Amino acid sequence: MRKNTLLTVVVTAGALLLGGCRAGGDFTGREYMPDMAHSEAYEYYSPSRPVMVDGQQINLFADGKSAREPVKGTIPRGFMPYHFPDTPEGYEQAGLQLTNPYNATKAAVLEDAKVLFNSNCAICHGEKGDAKGYIVTNGKYPAPPPSYFEDRVLNLSEGKMFHSVHYGKNMMGSYAGQLNKDERWKIIAYVKKLQAEYLASNDSIAKSANATADDIYNAITGVNKFYTKGMSFPKVAAATGSVAGAAEPPVVFVESELDKLAKERRELKAGEVIKLNNVFFATGKFDLRKESAIELDKLAELMKSKPTLKIEIDGHTDNQGDAKANLALSNNRAKAVYDYLVSKGIDKARLAFKGYGATKPAADNATEEGRAKNRRTEFKVL
Ligand code: HEC
Repeated sequence: MRKNTLLTVVVTAGALLLGGCRAGGDFTGREYMPDMAHSEAYEYYSPSRPVMVDGQQINLFADGKSAREPVKGTIPRGFMPYHFPDTPEGYEQAGLQLTNPYNATKAAVLEDAKVLFNSNCAICHGEKGDAKGYIVTNGKYPAPPPSYFEDRVLNLSEGKMFHSVHYGKNMMGSYAGQLNKDERWKIIAYVKKLQAEYLASNDSIAKSANATADDIYNAITGVNKFYTKGMSFPKVAAATGSVAGAAEPPVVFVESELDKLAKERRELKAGEVIKLNNVFFATGKFDLRKESAIELDKLAELMKSKPTLKIEIDGHTDNQGDAKANLALSNNRAKAVYDYLVSKGIDKARLAFKGYGATKPAADNATEEGRAKNRRTEFKVL
């Protein structure tokens, strides 16, 4: 009797096993307990198919997705915030405010930076920075990068370079995902080092002063305020705006009303007054500072997009100093903006300008904060 039971068990198990082994071609064989190879695979956060539970169709999660999204405000590990937006103002501001924590005259920094540069950037920019990287010289790259030795790039501050490498620029992609902040700064220090080496052997001022590449590096990165061994780099200094002795404070960009207008896409009403937040003048003078070009180019664009729009540029001052002088200053400043717009091809017939001095305050002249608000440039829709 026991023998029979044993025999039955063995025979049944054998039959089942053999049945299960009948695999071949596309047939997987018989599965008595389907395994995990057949579980549903979902892309994360993709919609999931409802599953059957006790005869009912239910979603994995109420929103029908296959995984939970991270809590709002979650940041990736090692994330460092970067406050400058990817706009022309952000670029200028980064150029003025960011300084490189690394100095490529230090051997350890230089060693790291060189490896990082050669493996990430040299393929386009070339190991020397002359834009003769491999994919450029073999003709496969549609838009060759600029040489680091062109005047414009020689003049780029480290902050602007960092900004471009952080966000990418035109054909150059962003490196924020591949290189962490420290690595990016080290690479920028290396770019300046390459420029310093170039200037040491090619720039006539540097050669006549017998300056070493390190002297020049310190000069162009601002360590020595562009002056070292009695030499200066006027070309470099002028564009970064931090020439020793230049008294103008850095500009502070705020949100442009023109950006808001562009987003709203609304019509402008006659009599409406719009403040030009990012127009800057030399202190006490009516020379436009170069940073104003961003705001004024936006205004020129607005005028071009609305061919019937006519405006009056208005200049205002605070109540400090002589009233007549203030009137003249505000008038000249309004005219400077007018001239700029004319230079950008806006028809004079659509433009007027007027200085109001301190006669139309926007805030209380008793406090410095109020006075700062009163010194302003606006335009009025005619
Ligand atoms: C695929 C080719 C390519 C690679 C790789 C590349 N760049 Fe560029 N880079 C360009 C091009 C093209 C431009 C010109 C962008 C423009 O102004 O239109 C440029 C511009 C620049 C500028 C000038 C930016 C400015 O604000 O005008 C800097 C600085 C720079 N690159 C640094 C780097 C660094 C550092 C790396 C490595 C982390 C790097 N690039 C990697 C193609 C490349």
